[in-house]
Amino acid sequence: MPRYLVRLIIIFVLGAVAVLAIRQFMVPASFYQLGHYRASVLPEVAAQEPVYAGHAACEECHGDVLEVKEKGRHTGLSCEVCHGAAATHAADPSSTKPFTELDRSFCLVCHEKNISRPAGFPMVDGLAHNIKEDCRKCHKPHSPSPNKGEEK
Ligand code: HEC
Ligand code: HEC
Ligand code: HEC
Ligand code: HEC
Repeated sequence: MPRYLVRLIIIFVLGAVAVLAIRQFMVPASFYQLGHYRASVLPEVAAQEPVYAGHAACEECHGDVLEVKEKGRHTGLSCEVCHGAAATHAADPSSTKPFTELDRSFCLVCHEKNISRPAGFPMVDGLAHNIKEDCRKCHKPHSPSPNKGEEK
């Protein structure tokens, strides 16, 4: 066998040994145990406390708000979409108060005119629609249609 081939084979063998040795150190023990991922991540994730309480939790104490919301166009929105993750509040209402300061830019996250939204979705041009005024002056967040403005 020519000497240059012997050298090449030695380099390849050394490379393969190095890859296997590094793999031994780098791949976590539980990798491949259940699939192509680290199995020990499952108990780690499961141990995390949920930060969202879910719609049903809010309904228990805020039935009045739910009643208003159900009749309006925001009926499909979950409370925590606007009020933020509120599991700590639901567990102990006096400990924390959910977020309520929604300015124009927050409403416009969903309502700014955008051609990619579904046809018929209520949209406004944020630079023209009653500019500089707080949306809540005319639209109640729990029942936003302007003709229902007297409700919450
Ligand atoms: C165990 C009953 C209970 C549950 C469950 C509960 N709340 Fe409340 N919530 C209260 C009480 C009581 C207050 C009034 C607290 C105060 O004014 O000191 C309140 C106040 C609020 C306020 C007004 C805060 C403010 O600054 O005035 C918001 C918004 C709110 N809750 C949203 C929610 C949302 C969203 C959920 C569901 C994730 C929820 N609550 C679940 C009892 C509850
Ligand atoms: C579209 C956003 C939005 C959604 C969805 C929403 N809220 Fe609110 N909520 C607000 C805003 C904004 C305020 C602050 C009061 C205001 O500006 O009129 C508020 C105020 C409140 C208050 C304070 C008292 C009051 O009635 O004004 C409570 C309690 C509350 N929300 C509970 C809820 C619950 C429970 C749900 C779900 C059933 C919910 N909200 C869904 C935006 C929302
Ligand atoms: C997470 C997205 C989201 C946010 C945030 C949100 N909305 Fe809505 N809004 C909706 C959806 C969904 C509808 C119902 C659309 C439908 O019925 O087809 C709606 C409906 C409306 C309508 C009804 C229009 C009509 O023709 O009756 C108004 C007005 C409105 N929202 C204003 C607001 C205001 C003001 C805020 C801020 C306080 C706000 N929205 C925040 C998603 C959102
Ligand atoms: C001065 C009062 C006023 C303010 C402030 C206001 N609106 Fe309106 N809005 C109205 C009225 C009245 C209508 C219904 C007539 C119209 O379409 O102009 C309406 C209609 C809408 C619609 C329905 C459009 C459709 O095609 O069905 C949406 C969505 C809306 N507004 C969102 C908002 C948002 C978001 C804000 C804040 C950035 C806001 N509005 C601020 C009065 C107001």
